[in-house]
Amino acid sequence: MMAKKIIKASRVERASRVAKVEVEAEETVKKQRAPKDLTTLRGFRDVLPEEEPYWNRVRDNARQLAEYYSFGRLDLPLLEYADLFQRTLGKATDVIEKEMYVFTDPSGYDVALRPEATAQTVRAYINHGMLNRPQPVKLYYEGQMFRHDRPQAGRYRQFNQFGFESIGEADPIVDAQLIVIGERFFRDLGLNVVVEINSIGTSETRKAYVMELVSYFRGFRKNLSEDDKRRLQKNPLRLLDSKEPYMAELLKDAPQIVDWLDEASKNHFMKVLEFLEEIEVPYRLNPHLVRGLDYYNRTVFEMYLAGETSSEASQGALLSGGRYDGLVEMLGGREGTPACGFACGMERVVSALKEAGVDPNPRFQPRVFFAQLGDAARRKGLRLFEEFRAEHIQVAEAFGKGSLKAQLEVANKMNAAYTIILGQKEVLDGTIIIRDMDSGAQEIVDAGKVVSIMQKRLVL
Ligand code: HAM
Repeated sequence: MMAKKIIKASRVERASRVAKVEVEAEETVKKQRAPKDLTTLRGFRDVLPEEEPYWNRVRDNARQLAEYYSFGRLDLPLLEYADLFQRTLGKATDVIEKEMYVFTDPSGYDVALRPEATAQTVRAYINHGMLNRPQPVKLYYEGQMFRHDRPQAGRYRQFNQFGFESIGEADPIVDAQLIVIGERFFRDLGLNVVVEINSIGTSETRKAYVMELVSYFRGFRKNLSEDDKRRLQKNPLRLLDSKEPYMAELLKDAPQIVDWLDEASKNHFMKVLEFLEEIEVPYRLNPHLVRGLDYYNRTVFEMYLAGETSSEASQGALLSGGRYDGLVEMLGGREGTPACGFACGMERVVSALKEAGVDPNPRFQPRVFFAQLGDAARRKGLRLFEEFRAEHIQVAEAFGKGSLKAQLEVANKMNAAYTIILGQKEVLDGTIIIRDMDSGAQEIVDAGKVVSIMQKRLVL
């Protein structure tokens, strides 16, 4: 009886507290005035011309990878029906609870500035009947996202992501290849990253695990912060990436989700890890990695600068993603359509590039030098040059210089790995000389094969 009364009283109290918070929130909204000085909104920023070279490098690199791995570019609107995100990201997630920019548009619809682009990509996949294309459909996007989060290092309210999504294939090699693409993206930019990875199984296995987790944390309820108490009640999985200082100690003995995985998820996870080992992508198992959005299942991963871990990273994950096999179906697409993807925070990459002192304008650094002797060789050289260009091999020359000695000096200065030499005799014979600049060794090869020979040597 007493307990009932207390519960009832606390409900009433809670209801009035909620009402008060709402009133306060309304008042706060009414009270805000644009500041007199011309500043941007908090968490929004301008990118000035001097920062653009970094942005161009990041964008160019992402675009090149998309092209290389056959991900088609998808441009998506910034504004969507709010319902798209409310249905998919999870009611008890930070994004839905407090971070979305939602408003009623002049036509009376509830719309949202997109907080992320995976739900949108799936919407587009369904809208445009991409199910009828060869699967998986591989898509790539880049652009602004909006979250009314607390601004801090690497966290903005308007930020840019580029993302790779592969829809329609369940094989673990897809997860592994996406991770490889992400890791390559950073390596190409001169940044070393570590992949943190975990598997969160299926929604069924997760239910059983969450019950275990709740019963473990209930034992420590009185030690938890108000935020963590709320998580315990509404979204217990999020306790695993709570940043409260006491949490590291509590997590040591907490149940781990990998121990609750079903056989199929376990096998899937093992295969992903095997692929990563095969391609020598460095990874670290993180049993507490669960991700902040609800649509994930099985593989989840995040990338951090080497030397940092998720709990101490200066600006959070540079890139994150995972498998989301239920999302297409949840949005009304074909039952059981699997999918996997990632998105990368571009502001965070730009800032990591600056911090690491990476040159945003790397100078043209060809590894092959072309030396010629005489007019006929020069003429033939011009054509050969185009053949190299068509194969994306950068070749330098000094057509203005006559002697071989002077040309070899230029090749040495620019650190070319090989010089290919074409003289009168070689033009007549249809041959060409390849000189290894380190050893000085020379060999004569068929001029028609020199491009493919150099192609092979340059990847070694
Ligand atoms: P997310 O972890 O919310 O996942 O965001 C992906 C990346 O965006 C983060 O790793 C981070 O680098 C960057 N990011 C997130 N919030 C901010 C912020 N406030 N300011 C600056 N950068 C931020 C997603 O959005 C999923 N859609 C990823 C995905 C794609 N999963 C599957 N496919």
